[in-house]
Amino acid sequence: MNTNDQLDHLKTLRAEAKLGGGQARIDKQHAKGAMTARERIDLLLDKGSFEEFDMFKTHRCTDFGMEKQVFPGDGVVTGHGTVDGRIVYVYAQDFTVLGGSLSETVSEKICKILDHGMKNGAPVIGLNDSGGARIQEGIESLAGYSEIFQRNVMASGVVPQISTIFGPCAGGAVYSPALTDFIVMVQNQSYMFLTGPKVVKSVTHEDVTTEALGGAEMHASRSGVSDYAASSGAEAVEYVRKLLSFLPQNNMENPPSIPCEDPKTREAAELNAIVPDNPNAAYDMMEVILQTVDNRDFHEVKEKFAPNIIVGFARYNGMSVGIVANQPKYLSGVLDIDSSVKGARFVRFCDCFNIPVVTFVDVPGFLPGTAQEYGGVIRNGAKILYAYAEATVPKVTVITRKAYGGAYCVMSSKHLRGDMNYAWPSAEIAVMGAKGASGVLYGRAAAKAEDPAAFLAQKEKEYQDKVANPYVAAQRGYIDDIIEPARTRTRIIKALGLLQNKRDTNPMKKHGNIPL
Ligand code: HXC
Repeated sequence: MNTNDQLDHLKTLRAEAKLGGGQARIDKQHAKGAMTARERIDLLLDKGSFEEFDMFKTHRCTDFGMEKQVFPGDGVVTGHGTVDGRIVYVYAQDFTVLGGSLSETVSEKICKILDHGMKNGAPVIGLNDSGGARIQEGIESLAGYSEIFQRNVMASGVVPQISTIFGPCAGGAVYSPALTDFIVMVQNQSYMFLTGPKVVKSVTHEDVTTEALGGAEMHASRSGVSDYAASSGAEAVEYVRKLLSFLPQNNMENPPSIPCEDPKTREAAELNAIVPDNPNAAYDMMEVILQTVDNRDFHEVKEKFAPNIIVGFARYNGMSVGIVANQPKYLSGVLDIDSSVKGARFVRFCDCFNIPVVTFVDVPGFLPGTAQEYGGVIRNGAKILYAYAEATVPKVTVITRKAYGGAYCVMSSKHLRGDMNYAWPSAEIAVMGAKGASGVLYGRAAAKAEDPAAFLAQKEKEYQDKVANPYVAAQRGYIDDIIEPARTRTRIIKALGLLQNKRDTNPMKKHGNIPL
């Protein structure tokens, strides 16, 4: 062959590989409203930036007629490219090739991506759409999954790992995404479960649909497995691109900072009146976040799961931060099992990747009751406590209203190495709410009083005036300053500026033993 023929031959082979499982299966994919692996990659990466690895790699299985089902590249498309000019490694399972099932070869290709991502310090994005272990291969496929799991764990906390689920994700296949930092699913298209509805029926006799068992809505709102339920594949990709914009490339970098046009000293007068006079009335903590961050731009994570706590990314004067905030609008912002786990995982992610944590506090305490105790609120509540206590990133805290009891301690308090702790004048920092406290302290005396209700109301007011305010904490130095709500943005930006070069360490150890 001369050079031209060689080039033509290469072009032909590439074109063949790009067809994956063939045009008919591509058409089938489109007919069900889904994109192909390559289309998803093109949408995720900057135009023209994709460079492919292992396009000609094939499986080696000869059982069950597999020697006749050989597709160049096998069931996954892998490589690297850029998102907003920054390198990412990517793999996209190709459903048109044997249902995107995981062969030994597919595993080797994904492992190569994870190895390169780790070595070169760049995020790894997995676009999943797979029927699970390749049934014809058996143990090679199981070994292949295990090799991926091992690398997911090694890469955890070294480079960001993000999984997007576009189609089925069943059996052990769910555990690789579960080991990554974020999972994005697509409504009515993707599902994740250990065993499908048929197996569920035979084992537990439950009738359940695929969607109810492992659909995007269920995982985003009930199980908390997924961080976002996108309305389409394209929206899922957009969510991932934006998420990446807040993250550093790896654990040795600081998160990216971008130019900011929103004035540093912009005041938000509305915040001076946002906390209602009635301490039991709700208000929207999201508004506090939006009023203070750059351009009202907040990228929320796990929006529908445990909405009594809000977590997500934003910027202050262009600096990327993670925000954790109790939401008085839901369950009074109480800490329960789900909100503790949600907050803990987010704080730990930020700490892995040098992202400062800004915490807004309005929390009446931990949720009492048998459901919580039987579910292990002690063990699970301890997770958020542990996460804040071990975090060494800059920690800025603003108490807007209630910070009662254990929840005061937990929510990035001074005692858990909070760097800058501010309170609004409306803050109530106490062991418990005035009503509960006066009941405990004066219950017996009230029973003997002429008018027990009036007696208790008086004691409640005394407790409120004396203890449930920010000044006692400020006198101790547990609160660095009591600030005007309207100036919260300015004060947070100043604090983050001060803490830019913060260095803090934990004692040398193999790893801590977070209460799992
Ligand atoms: C090999 C597979 C496959 C698999 C699908 N295909 N799953 N080939 N191994 N696991 C092939 C089909 O034969 C078909 O080939 C093509 O992919 C498309 O599949 P369809 O069934 O036509 O598509 P659809 O109707 O959309 O159904 C998709 C599906 C279903 C729900 C994923 O295919 C399915 O249930 N597959 C098996 C799922 C499973 O049980 N996997 C093993 C899980 S156990 P043709 O040639 O017709 O296009 C596991 C253990 C891992 O993963 C443990 C790790 C710790």
